[in-house]
Amino acid sequence: MAAAAAVGRLEMAALAWLALSLAVVTAVDRSNFKTCDQSSFCKRQRNVEAGSSPYRALLESLQLSQDSMKIQLINEANKVPLLLELYGLKGNMTRIRINELNPLKPRYEVPDVLVQDPPTTRLSVTGRDDNSVELSLGEGNHKLILTAKPFRMDLLEGRELVLSVNSRGLLVFEHLRQRKDSFSDKVSSTVVSIWDRIKNLFSREPPKEPASEGEGAAEASDAPSSAEQESTEKTEQGEEAPKGASETEEEPGSWEETFKTHTDSKPNGPTSVGLDFSFPGVENVYGIPEHADYLRLRTTEGGDPYRLYNLDVFQYELYNPMALYGSVPVLLAHNPQRTLGIFWLNAAETWVDVTSNTAGKTLFGKMLDYMQGGGETPQTDVRWMSESGIIDVFLLLGPSPNDIFQQYASLTGTQALPPLFALAYHQSRWNYNDEEDVSTVDNGFDEHDIPYDVIWLDIEHADGKRYFTWDPNKFPRPREMLQGLAAKRRKMVSIVDPHIKVDSAYRIHNEIRSRDFYVKTKDGSDYEGWCWPGSAGYPDFTNPEMRAWWSSMFGYDHYEGSMENLYTWNDMNEPSVFNGPEVTMHKDAVHQGGWEHRDIHNLYAFYVQMATAEGQVKRSGGLERPFVLTRGFFAGSQRYGAVWTGDNAAEWDHLKISIPMCLSLALVGISFCGADVGGFFKNPEPELLVRWYQAGAYQPFFRAHAHMDTTRREPWLFGEENKALIRDAVRQRYALLPFWYTLFYHSYRTGQPVMRPLWVEYPQDATTYAIDDQYLLGDALLVHPVTAQGARGVQVYLPGKGEVWYDVHTHQKLHAPQTHYLAVTMSSIPVYQRGGSIVARKERVRRSSDCMYNDPYTLYVALGPQGTAQGELFVDDGHTFSFETKGQYLHRRFSFSGNTLTASSADPKGSFETPAWIERVVILGAGKPAAVFLKQKDVAESRLDFTHEAETSVLTIRKPAVNIGADWSISLR
Ligand code: GLC
Repeated sequence: MAAAAAVGRLEMAALAWLALSLAVVTAVDRSNFKTCDQSSFCKRQRNVEAGSSPYRALLESLQLSQDSMKIQLINEANKVPLLLELYGLKGNMTRIRINELNPLKPRYEVPDVLVQDPPTTRLSVTGRDDNSVELSLGEGNHKLILTAKPFRMDLLEGRELVLSVNSRGLLVFEHLRQRKDSFSDKVSSTVVSIWDRIKNLFSREPPKEPASEGEGAAEASDAPSSAEQESTEKTEQGEEAPKGASETEEEPGSWEETFKTHTDSKPNGPTSVGLDFSFPGVENVYGIPEHADYLRLRTTEGGDPYRLYNLDVFQYELYNPMALYGSVPVLLAHNPQRTLGIFWLNAAETWVDVTSNTAGKTLFGKMLDYMQGGGETPQTDVRWMSESGIIDVFLLLGPSPNDIFQQYASLTGTQALPPLFALAYHQSRWNYNDEEDVSTVDNGFDEHDIPYDVIWLDIEHADGKRYFTWDPNKFPRPREMLQGLAAKRRKMVSIVDPHIKVDSAYRIHNEIRSRDFYVKTKDGSDYEGWCWPGSAGYPDFTNPEMRAWWSSMFGYDHYEGSMENLYTWNDMNEPSVFNGPEVTMHKDAVHQGGWEHRDIHNLYAFYVQMATAEGQVKRSGGLERPFVLTRGFFAGSQRYGAVWTGDNAAEWDHLKISIPMCLSLALVGISFCGADVGGFFKNPEPELLVRWYQAGAYQPFFRAHAHMDTTRREPWLFGEENKALIRDAVRQRYALLPFWYTLFYHSYRTGQPVMRPLWVEYPQDATTYAIDDQYLLGDALLVHPVTAQGARGVQVYLPGKGEVWYDVHTHQKLHAPQTHYLAVTMSSIPVYQRGGSIVARKERVRRSSDCMYNDPYTLYVALGPQGTAQGELFVDDGHTFSFETKGQYLHRRFSFSGNTLTASSADPKGSFETPAWIERVVILGAGKPAAVFLKQKDVAESRLDFTHEAETSVLTIRKPAVNIGADWSISLR
């Protein structure tokens, strides 16, 4: 009876959630999510103000080994010692780890995110005095000056200070402790703390400047930051030291914290860590996705910090720092001279404050400051605060944006090379109702002559939301359905969420239960929460055995009805728990090894996608590349597939924000990003839908998706005109698939993003720093989607002094830099090809990407100001690992100079047979030649037909008919 009553109550809770979710709500219910003030550790950390750090480095404890430096830090207020480890890493990086010297028990250190133990370089001490040590970091002319008291570290390149650590004294490390809750304990701890503080007041000396050895040190001390001056003053005036960790234990929220109806038991008490970093000379910072905000981060003074805590935020609001589904704790700092990066490897709830001494100043104000000589050097300070774990931070020292991408990729891996079909167009909705619906929609694309590759099935396809099963009435013959799609060379994706229906008749649940693979409550029972199926268990994806088991469930024998062309969508993996605190899992839930959910939260989704992708690889005997879409993510998720920006809405602002949201992800390694085309909630008006297809066609992951309550929106339901516009956008995507595929290959090899903010390619052009309504694909195409209702025109910024750009539709040549006004109609998708680039396309219209496999190529050669151009093309079978394991691929290089276009191999290690050939070469910006000749090895030179348009300077060379893998040259004479 009692159990029945409990279930009844839970059902009510779920119904209430559903009612809430289906109501027409216009914005997020902010009260469901914590502000920094409501997150007790964030509040405690933020209450510690900049000033002189209570930490002192014990120089006598310094130990130097081949590759690391270890030194103890003592908190003068509570005397708890920390251990700082410093590593110089190969490739111009530095790693700093800070943990308690003697923690009561181990603190969580994030596993599995780094692809290897980062190789180290040799460190050496190059100078020393009473209060500081100077180290050379081995590579890149970098020196680090560690000042003992107050503790700080300054990183110099040559004579220039590039980054400071703890210069604002915000290192806060809440050490593990026994709970003191008796009255006498309270009294004695207060007495000790007051005594400590009195002692401190008398023992404090004015802080010294950084090391005196070496000119660099002198330079650093010449320009103390404003915060540093402030702290000196305060100390001299004998004001209070900043609050140390000793006082936190009695603060409300330290040992138990309540939010709405949820109480977090916090058995370990306060455990948070925080640290500040300063970037002198920097005004632009980026990264730390996922937020629905501008590309360039804003200062957080007066508001909340940016929050990183994977959450299922219902109807998220735009332009604010609230947490969303995924978290990548990586921040980039940029100025015209250099780019730097910070990778804060911590998977607990994290908040990031950004402050700047130039925030709010107009350009004029800054100039005035400068002219009056009173201006400070611009500086941006960032402060990281995490609820538990240790401080493990990588300083990526660039100096170029590409160096940063390479450095970060060497730590966490690169974007997986997707199967080619995954770069094509995906058709999804919640839900395609049954097999007949699937077949009607599938045929619809053929009838209306619109290519598409993948149809998606949302949660209703499964039998009562029991993933890995099919609803027996709606999908009685899944294999036939999949075979039907395969016959058209198309694929399907089915959703597999990580919440498992608690149902003793469900095989998956029973197995997980019997293997004891569920996450546990703090009391040791299986953790249960509410999600789509009702009461659900959450498999412990942090457990490698659980992951191996989960992977095996994708085997064709386990996942009945599945086939080779069925791929996977992992949703709700933040994890979403409808009746949990902030719609997620209780922080005191327990994972394998006794770790609290608090410690691993932001990693859960990473592991879900990892296990799923590995399952797909396994089912093919290790041959096939996987495709898995995930909503939640962490650093390193790029290795496992694609992400999308979750439940957006059919609103113009949501279309607009898809660009900075994907660009922010691209900057931190995750290139395969997209937003629900059309908007998930609400019904898009046709104009918005068309504009969204046009924008989506030029974003990496291109999928239409919609909430179940929206009206149907397959592309042919909006009249002939709109259908034609959508068809044209999708066809533009298909024509460019060879280019997309090559970009992804490049990203896989180098870590460079596919979709790039302009400043990445034009790092010295300050005009580009805040641009987030246009972007580059690779370095060749510039895209400025139309994202405004009723737009008549767009202002496109074309960067690059002395460069030229070509409108890809009209072939008009434009000189850069300039802000170009382009008048637009409904059919316009503003895209420009950079002069100096070569882009390969396939221009025959087909049903799916697979049908285009052997189709011929057209090369678009856009001549640069010097009459030259370069480009690449990657070709392989499009779906296996053979390019890696057997060298079966072609990596071609095309280069135009001296009136000759040459094709050669960019990588002799690869070879691959394909019948695909080149049917056309279009040269933009070319004069009219008298004749055009093709030359191939051991073949007599032959003349080629061509046409030339004088007005646009477009030369079209017809049918060179050379194999895409062949070496040849075409000369214009
Ligand atoms: C979540 C997903 C959405 C999906 C729905 C049902 O809201 O973000 O894409 O359609 O769940 O599975």
